[in-house]
Amino acid sequence: MTADRTVTVPPSRSVAPHVLGFWGTILLLLSLGGFGATAENDFNLVRPLVTMEQLLWVSGKHIGSVDTFRIPLITVTPQGTLLAFAEARKMSSSDLGAKFIAMRRSVDQGSTWSPTAFIVGDGETPDGLNLGAVVNDKETGIIFLFYSLCAHKIGCNVSSTMLVWSKDDGISWSPPRNLSLDIGTEMFAPGPGSGIQKQREPKKGRLIVCGHGTLERDGVFCLLSDDHGATWQYGTGISGIPFGQPKRDFDFNPDECQPYELPDGSVVINARNQNNYHCHCRIVLRSYDACDTLRLRDVTFDPELIDPVVAAGAVATSSGIIFFSNPAHTEFRVNLTLRWSFSNGTSWQKETVRLWPGPSGYSSLASLEGNIAGENQAPQIYVLYEKGLNQITESISLAKISVYGTL
Ligand SMILES: *[C@@H]1O[C@H](CO)[C@@H](O)[C@H](O)[C@H]1NC(C)=O
Ligand SMILES: *[C@@H]1O[C@H](CO)[C@@H](O)[C@H](O)[C@H]1NC(C)=O
Ligand SMILES: *[C@@H]1O[C@H](CO)[C@@H](O)[C@H](O)[C@H]1NC(C)=O
Ligand SMILES: *[C@@H]1O[C@H](CO)[C@@H](O)[C@H](O)[C@H]1NC(C)=O
Repeated sequence: MTADRTVTVPPSRSVAPHVLGFWGTILLLLSLGGFGATAENDFNLVRPLVTMEQLLWVSGKHIGSVDTFRIPLITVTPQGTLLAFAEARKMSSSDLGAKFIAMRRSVDQGSTWSPTAFIVGDGETPDGLNLGAVVNDKETGIIFLFYSLCAHKIGCNVSSTMLVWSKDDGISWSPPRNLSLDIGTEMFAPGPGSGIQKQREPKKGRLIVCGHGTLERDGVFCLLSDDHGATWQYGTGISGIPFGQPKRDFDFNPDECQPYELPDGSVVINARNQNNYHCHCRIVLRSYDACDTLRLRDVTFDPELIDPVVAAGAVATSSGIIFFSNPAHTEFRVNLTLRWSFSNGTSWQKETVRLWPGPSGYSSLASLEGNIAGENQAPQIYVLYEKGLNQITESISLAKISVYGTL
């Protein structure tokens, strides 16, 4: 049923043979000792290298008659399986309209993928579902996927926040649960991207899914669960200014966002700067209480992370490397770039991996590390992003990046 095109690209930069030889030796030693000893400082081993790229979805009614695939999400499950999700926009490329949630699954670290499964459908609704955020509970193995319905209130009057989950590593999914029965019907747009589970105190084990609202629930805030996803409640958020009113150019309007946890147990939320307040760059929020509260005094801007107003990817590895992806341009959605930081995101390494110079939009990151199926894996970063020759809506592409630069 799928008409996948698989494209393998050469690595985006070359590594001198003597360097490869040297690192090969280091890696051999490491593989004897074992990868992924958590929180070990591996910064001097980091040489990110693209080792594979393939298109997971192609727009244009090739796959299940779907017009357009957008809004990529990727996660690595506690079992080391990769799950990729996207909105399958049935009739047009519009944010509105009827959609499915498309999913593909890889049990071999991204080499091969299951055919597309449409795990949720919304019929023919005028303002259908929107993705979304995926979060893994590492203690129970349950995978949660959040999406919204009627986010724009076009042809419908009530927004709902919906949740499906999988207890079998992403093979089957629950019927949708209407979380709005518990948390209310104010519009909440999760992600798009991943939620996190707190790995450190405070609130170790807490599930955190951040997103943004519209005028009625203005700004960025997070949904929290301290009981492995049975119940969810909002933390207090950061509002836009002016609160509850339409925004103009250069107003403060934090939007689509991606959280990650720092080694000190604080949470950073990297957010889209919808109206270019202060800079054409990312808004960085930080919470010291596991997103119970977000405070204005903890809002900063990252001038290194120039941004054309888009959803970006961010992920922290267990050893404390932060990876960040976006179309690195102040105006246009082009130049999809992967960056990394050894300083908790306070600065970024000069070297970058430029994944695609052309049209590129939303991106989502996942990190695979540690013991997978009884074997210690060299750490990998996955970037799932919107990519095209002429338009970002043409396809959704997966790049696999070897963190230590080994094949
Ligand atoms: C939404 O509310 C308006 C005003 O109350 C009403 O006229 C309209 O029929 C409602 N639309 C739907 C789809 O329920
Ligand atoms: C979800 O629950 C809310 C609150 O009861 C309700 O208004 C809304 O229509 C429900 N949404 C769906 C899709 O059932
Ligand atoms: C693309 O991103 C790179 C960083 O990877 C940056 O150096 C370069 O200036 C960007 N190009 C454009 C056209 O903005
Ligand atoms: C990052 O944060 C950790 C924990 O607070 C700290 O030990 C480390 O020194 C920080 N790294 C840098 C480069 O600031």
